[in-house]
Amino acid sequence: MSLLDVVGVHKRFRSGTGVVRAVNGVSFAIPEGEVLGIIGESGSGKSTVARIAVGLMPPDEGTVVFDGRDLSTMSGRERRTLRTSIGIVFQEPFASLDPRRTALESVLEPLEVQRPGRAAACGRTSAAREALSRVGLGPDLQERYPGRLSGGEQQRVGIARAIVTRPRLVLLDEPTSALDRSIRGDILDLLGSIQREEGLTYCLISHDVETINHLSDRVLVMYRGEVVESGPTDDVLDSPRHPYTQALLSARLPLDPRAELPVLPLPAERPAGGSRCPFFERCHRAAAECTAGPIPVVECAPGHRVACAGLDLPR
Ligand SMILES: Nc1ncnc2c1ncn2[C@@H]1O[C@H](COP(=O)(O)OP(=O)(O)O)[C@@H](O)[C@H]1O
Ligand SMILES: [Mg+2]
Repeated sequence: MSLLDVVGVHKRFRSGTGVVRAVNGVSFAIPEGEVLGIIGESGSGKSTVARIAVGLMPPDEGTVVFDGRDLSTMSGRERRTLRTSIGIVFQEPFASLDPRRTALESVLEPLEVQRPGRAAACGRTSAAREALSRVGLGPDLQERYPGRLSGGEQQRVGIARAIVTRPRLVLLDEPTSALDRSIRGDILDLLGSIQREEGLTYCLISHDVETINHLSDRVLVMYRGEVVESGPTDDVLDSPRHPYTQALLSARLPLDPRAELPVLPLPAERPAGGSRCPFFERCHRAAAECTAGPIPVVECAPGHRVACAGLDLPR
């Protein structure tokens, strides 16, 4: 059984002039202990689907099941438990930390929600110190305010906060995108070793191929609110089949020069998912099949699925 099941999720937002379909019929499952990477360019709906998946926002349609329980029918008590069963690491470490709290106080906060009361105070402090040491922050750094920590140290506090309650799932939304390139590898290594040692399940979001490649067992490629390709990370990154995935990876892989993408203006409103490929307007292989009814999802290798009507068409 999967730890997390996301089924047929849709989310629209009202924007000044109309409606944005941020998430358009997305489904995926994460088995316990797996790292699922979600990749796609900015605005593809990654953060929205992730927020829905961890219960920060309700979907317009679709269901989310965590550990066998449907989020939409959870009781207040189950919701509180959910909050400590899922850790979240955000992109902006400084913005996500309270400037008036020391590193130790920040990491204590989720424990106070999980284990309130004076009697547990001593245990909370030792658990918080242990989590901070685990992410490489020794006793003197634990007493510092965020303003006196580097960007990398701030993100280490963010990671300690996310793991201190011993969650089962950790959502990492662009965990290294705001950091200096020179320290990204260290933070990714840290995240990888924590995941392996604790047997944690990760949902990792990034627009960066290297980040996804570093940690993910499986990858989901999103484009304009839809999943266009998914599968084992090596398969998808080494042999991408969807023209969008190929374009996304083209800076890194030798590609057919004909795969040059014309960049066309995109209409804000689109029909609900499935009847038309979201990449149609930009695809060099677009054909009539791409707008004429449900897009077939083809399994081109075990577990490697591509939502493309043009796979078998002559190039
Ligand atoms: N709270 C919101 N209100 C209105 N529009 C939003 C909101 N959150 C996201 N969007 C829009 O939804 C789309 C997907 O955004 P997002 O999920 O943040 O994408 P990503 O994380 O892949 O960059 C974008 O067009 C974005 O502008
Ligand atoms: Mg985002």
